Amino acid sequence: MMMGGGMGGWGGGGIGGGPMGHGQDRGKVFDARVLSRLWGYLREYKRRVIWAVFLLTVYSAMQIVGPYLLKVALDDYVVTKQDMVGLTVVSLAFLLSLVVSYGAQSNQTYTMAYVAQGVLAKMRGDLFKKVNALSLGFHDRNESGVTMSRIVNDVAVFQELLTQGVLHLFADCLTLVGMIVIMSSMSPKLALYAFSVLPIMVVATVVFSIFSRKAFLRTRETIGQVAAGFQENVSAVRVVQAFSREGVSENNFDEINKDNFKANLTALRIGASFQPVVEFTSMLARAIVLGFGAAGVISGDVTVGVVVAFLSYVTRFFEPIRELAGTYTLFQQAMAAGEKIFKLMDEPIEVADHPNAGTMTPIEGRVHFDHVYFGYSAEVPVLKDVEFVAEPGQSIALVGPTGAGKTSIAALLCRFYEVRGGAVRVDGIDIRDVTMASLRSQMGIVPQDPFLFSGTVADNIRFGRPEASMEEVVEAAKLANAHEFIARLSDGYDTVVYERGQNYSQGQRQLIALARVVLADPRILVLDEATASIDTRTEALIQAAIGRILGGRTSFVIAHRLSTIRNADIILVVDHGEIVQRGTHRELLGQEGMYKDLYLMQYRRERRAQGLPDVELATEAVY
Ligand SMILES: Nc1ncnc2c1ncn2[C@@H]1O[C@H](COP(=O)(O)OP(=O)(O)O)[C@@H](O)[C@H]1O
Ligand SMILES: [Mg+2]
Repeated sequence: MMMGGGMGGWGGGGIGGGPMGHGQDRGKVFDARVLSRLWGYLREYKRRVIWAVFLLTVYSAMQIVGPYLLKVALDDYVVTKQDMVGLTVVSLAFLLSLVVSYGAQSNQTYTMAYVAQGVLAKMRGDLFKKVNALSLGFHDRNESGVTMSRIVNDVAVFQELLTQGVLHLFADCLTLVGMIVIMSSMSPKLALYAFSVLPIMVVATVVFSIFSRKAFLRTRETIGQVAAGFQENVSAVRVVQAFSREGVSENNFDEINKDNFKANLTALRIGASFQPVVEFTSMLARAIVLGFGAAGVISGDVTVGVVVAFLSYVTRFFEPIRELAGTYTLFQQAMAAGEKIFKLMDEPIEVADHPNAGTMTPIEGRVHFDHVYFGYSAEVPVLKDVEFVAEPGQSIALVGPTGAGKTSIAALLCRFYEVRGGAVRVDGIDIRDVTMASLRSQMGIVPQDPFLFSGTVADNIRFGRPEASMEEVVEAAKLANAHEFIARLSDGYDTVVYERGQNYSQGQRQLIALARVVLADPRILVLDEATASIDTRTEALIQAAIGRILGGRTSFVIAHRLSTIRNADIILVVDHGEIVQRGTHRELLGQEGMYKDLYLMQYRRERRAQGLPDVELATEAVY
């Protein structure tokens, strides 16, 4: 029953594949469009980025200078002439290079982390704004989990790219080239010997990165499934427990969990088998340099200092190579993430303010549905030629079977969706010609399943008018007949509301939502089955209150129980998206049709529920 106006079978073009949008992490390595958009975020930090590049260049230079100083110290001040002063100077220079290297690295790391965190926060803020601005149509079609994943996971990948990717790529290349140049200039022959291990290193790195990329992607995919499985189970826990399906869900989850466990083990195994290869190649390179270097020293081809410098360079070789392999994967992921992020950012807003939309001045409340046609998609019409006028202060009741289109009419009135034909006019103005904010600020809706925010009861009532005083809050609650139950709560108006108001019954949530709307004091009021979950006794109270609440406002009441709308000025009977009957309660009971059938059916059911004899009633007896 709760699935009423369902959104069954609504495929739509979701973003990204698989659960949580983790499915597709393989992107291009360079995507010019993504990078240029990223630059848009970085521009603000241009000076910091340049500073970081400078620091990295210094760091790379120190990587090259250090071993060179070793060579100078040994060759010029130890072997040829024993010069303590010169040796001390060079040693101090070596120490200085270490200090500069340390300073440059730590400052660079902080600078880029600063930039990356700034970009991260800005992107999240932009996405949040965008998601708020996107029309309901978008939210109908896209899973909230996937949208969440954009804000949480994908943006984080970008942050990683900025702290570890872009600049390191530059610095690693710089270091490698610098070392190759200086080594070749010191001793071309020994350099050639030393570089002979490079192919092994490169092949090992490439093979490793291919395997580890696959394994890593698998871990990302499976952790996405773990999160998705968890999330769904948390939100569905009531249903799961009600049907005693805990065992089945746990088995399903075990399955996914085990997949993730295995994927992680595979990734770890690959990493573990690669590490010794690095060690081995590194040792091999040192052995080669030592062997051929020593021979060279004996034959007088190279100096001792060159051999020592080479040993030092060779050990520093592997870090940049390994990092380059990692950077490749990181770029791929970041491009894929970027594509998804910017797709969301560029998502067209279906219902937007026109560039020259005016402001809706305080309205009287005349509503005209001018031959409105509507469908959530172009293919499936939901409303057909809906035409009616509500004069200011009138109350309009919408009745009809589930799925008839009542909620859709209410949604169009607030312009949550755009009509596909005809127009909705308020005080004679087409609502597309004014800003949505100025329109909606004069309307209040109590939806069937009202949303409560975490906070206190009073905060929730104040939602539409945060500046309202406590007296006004209480007054609104009294008007909505919510005061009595709130007063009985442990902390009254300060009682905490859990996420989504789970600690209140649906009826109580409706009462709070009713008070919220009363406080906002809109000119047009929409109650979408707002009293459907309230017991008959409370309803009688509300019934009395509703007269006061509606007083003077144009109101639309969608009612499940027809007894609640007997006094409406106009009753519109909706069926299959069309208005099939209209009139007052009295008029509609006087004619054969859907309204009379529905009403009599409910009337009999209520009598039976009260234990009264089942009688065939004349129409007159009903009112
Ligand atoms: N967000 C939505 N996306 C797509 N179709 C929808 C959506 N909401 C409702 N519908 C469809 O539109 C029709 C009218 O729904 P609705 O206006 O909610 O009916 P009612 O409020 O009278 O029960 C139904 O067929 C329903 O399946
Ligand atoms: Mg509805």
